[in-house]
Amino acid sequence: MTAELTAPPRDIALGLRNLTTEFRTHDGPLRAVNQVTLDVYRGRALAIIGESGSGKSALLRSVLGLLPRSAKITGNVFLDGRDLLAVRRKEREAVRGSRIGMIFQDPLTALDPVFTIGRQLTETLRRHHRLREPAARSRALELLEAVRIPAPEHRFNAYPFELSGGMRQRVVIAMALAGEPEILLADEPTTALDATVQARVMALIASIQQERTMAMVIVTHDLAAASQVADDIAVMYAGRVIEQGPVADVIGSPAHPYTRGLLGANVQAGQTRPPAIIPGAPPNLARLPPGCSFAPRCAESKPACWTNGFPTARARSRTHWAACLNVPGPGGTR
Ligand SMILES: Nc1ncnc2c1ncn2[C@@H]1O[C@H](COP(=O)(O)OP(=O)(O)OP(=O)(O)O)[C@@H](O)[C@H]1O
Ligand SMILES: [Mg+2]
Repeated sequence: MTAELTAPPRDIALGLRNLTTEFRTHDGPLRAVNQVTLDVYRGRALAIIGESGSGKSALLRSVLGLLPRSAKITGNVFLDGRDLLAVRRKEREAVRGSRIGMIFQDPLTALDPVFTIGRQLTETLRRHHRLREPAARSRALELLEAVRIPAPEHRFNAYPFELSGGMRQRVVIAMALAGEPEILLADEPTTALDATVQARVMALIASIQQERTMAMVIVTHDLAAASQVADDIAVMYAGRVIEQGPVADVIGSPAHPYTRGLLGANVQAGQTRPPAIIPGAPPNLARLPPGCSFAPRCAESKPACWTNGFPTARARSRTHWAACLNVPGPGGTR
């Protein structure tokens, strides 16, 4: 436990330790993010999956401190051994957009309708790199090219409404890349797009992440996309990460009954049998059950799951773990 609380080693781009975020609600404090400890590795992509309301967006926003003032965030967010939650607000703002880029869940509203995309990109470049014209313009054109926008010189003067959804999303990605971030946080970056465009934009994000060897955290509902884009997967349930590991391990041999449920509920191309929906609904995060928060929906639960507090993570291998009492795992607890 103490090892978990020290600053992480160098190959880790971003280290979250016991990150907890509570919102004040009429129902009392609501734990949207609950003691999340996870590492994001340099040059690797981590996909976060989980049902709606499991805390995926709240987790990414907590990393950047982009939450209402009433939200209480505790724990640590280590970037190069420095805890972003402990530094001054100004310092954290400087990290946002430069060292850590973010693509939001509702990206199409991320662009200002009254300015051309060229103007918005050059403004962002001025802010992060203190670039002046014409350097800002030529860098903006390079970024539009990097996100494969055809005829960037021509599109530079277009307003967002003149572009298709897919093209606008490429501009939003270009904006997130403007600060040359080492880490990209992407919250369902293709949800607002139609299916064929989704696949292309997802492929673009994956290739940019690899070309730039950025660390990336990508939230997605689409398990097929997660396995294409990501190296590692973290599964969230009721504010907690309940399983994490390399994609092949988590998808190929899921350890947590919830992960197995999610995989069963995911319809695959060509599938003929109906998806196996997980029975019940996620708990109210302001009224969490005392034991494992998945126990009320879990076909494999035993009495200890209801009473012994939330299960500690158990290692299946050096890199794959799950928080479930039923995981036998060779490595004992993490
Ligand atoms: N500003 C807020 N004030 C109060 N509660 C909030 C706030 N933002 C999020 N929540 C609550 O926190 C929980 C997690 O929300 P979050 O948006 O992180 O879920 P999510 O996993 O991103 O879901 P989705 O897949 O639908 O985007 C939910 O119960 C939500 O209602
Ligand atoms: Mg969300």
